[in-house]
Amino acid sequence: MYHIIPISKVKKEIAVPGDKSISHRALLISSLARGKTKIINFLNSQDTLATLKCLRMLNVEIKYTKRKNEAEVNSRGPLFDISGKVKLNAQESGTTIRLLSGILVAQKFSSLLESKGSLRKRPMKRITYPLRLMGGKIKGKIKDKEEYPPLEIDPTDFLLGINYKLPQASAQVKSAIMFASLFSKGKTKIVEPQHSRDHTERMLRLFGAKLKKVSKSITIEKSKLASPGEIFIPSDISSASFFIALGLLLKDSEILIRNVGLNPTRSGFLKVLKRMGANIKVFNRKNYFEPYGDVLAKSSQLKGVEVEEKEIPLMIDELPILMVCASFAKGRTIIKGLRELKVKETDRLSSMVYNLKKAGVDIKATTYKGDNWKVEILGKRKINSVKFRSFSDHRTAMSLIVFGMASQKSFYLDDVTCIDKSFPDFIPIINSLYG
Ligand code: S3P
Repeated sequence: MYHIIPISKVKKEIAVPGDKSISHRALLISSLARGKTKIINFLNSQDTLATLKCLRMLNVEIKYTKRKNEAEVNSRGPLFDISGKVKLNAQESGTTIRLLSGILVAQKFSSLLESKGSLRKRPMKRITYPLRLMGGKIKGKIKDKEEYPPLEIDPTDFLLGINYKLPQASAQVKSAIMFASLFSKGKTKIVEPQHSRDHTERMLRLFGAKLKKVSKSITIEKSKLASPGEIFIPSDISSASFFIALGLLLKDSEILIRNVGLNPTRSGFLKVLKRMGANIKVFNRKNYFEPYGDVLAKSSQLKGVEVEEKEIPLMIDELPILMVCASFAKGRTIIKGLRELKVKETDRLSSMVYNLKKAGVDIKATTYKGDNWKVEILGKRKINSVKFRSFSDHRTAMSLIVFGMASQKSFYLDDVTCIDKSFPDFIPIINSLYG
């Protein structure tokens, strides 16, 4: 049981580790480009280490120095040297299983891609279906018209480019298709319904892939990748978001975080917070292949706002902490387009509504347009000291800790071990803020 202790004010600079999505991609894409790639500020977390271990099982040579947050990939080219069938485990990492599938369908050997915990229950048809359309031999465990891990993958004689309209805005799905397209005959065209994080597109271009993007439409074709030699990974804006929120919600406080990733397809949270009246300053902007800069968050009285469907993919992982911010804002916040939030590590809409309601927040989730969801939060209610449940979800756990600290009351949380999935340094950083 973790005890959440209230904190009155914080004036500190903190360091947040490297971006999770970019760390996965740096390993995967470097593995496809013959030669060495040094990855600086690589994230040490359960999810990114799951990708690293899978690639090592595929005979990709990777030196990892945890102390320096550095990984060095030495690739022998995009076709991995494996004989027989390989058994891999993506652990609980959705990015690992979905992105790696796009590479495995193009290989000359069979693989079994297993998972554990919450990932066993997450939908995979969103990737198996388009990969099969391309000629890939991939299938999951079928249940009620959906497919789940483990995924069985066999070599195919051909992969062909496709024209594909994504049914949902998902960076994981478009990335799996883009990876398979690097090995396919003919062009692939992917059209997204809304913009989603574009880290794969940016990094593939850095590695020289033949990829064009016009608004929400991507065209990609077979490409031989060439390593830039070195990649720097900016700090994870999703991890930074918990401390940005804390800086805003505490009185007489300010929190500074340097080198935070500012990719516009990831910084929807900052935009919405600014609309809510947040005092956030961004400076020292750098125009690397992934833009980044320093972020300073100062105490602010937030006000309720409306968040539209098209903004959701740009802040999909920050929705739990946005619900926390809305709980302290003056007036009503309405967040629409939450369908995808229900298929993350847990149903994050239900887990946040359950916990915040228990603490006294006026919060209500309802359906609209058939199968979509929205949440309404009326902030500034009387908060009760309660015992929270993380539902083994890292982002739910971290959001509730921030809620508890900012509430000026003592709370308990059933489990914090799940936080290691993305941010093992979170609790040590939180502890450093007291005193
Ligand atoms: C991710 C994409 C998002 C996000 C996840 C990481 C990625 O998922 O929620 O934490 O690295 O591509 P979807 O693409 O399924 O929305």
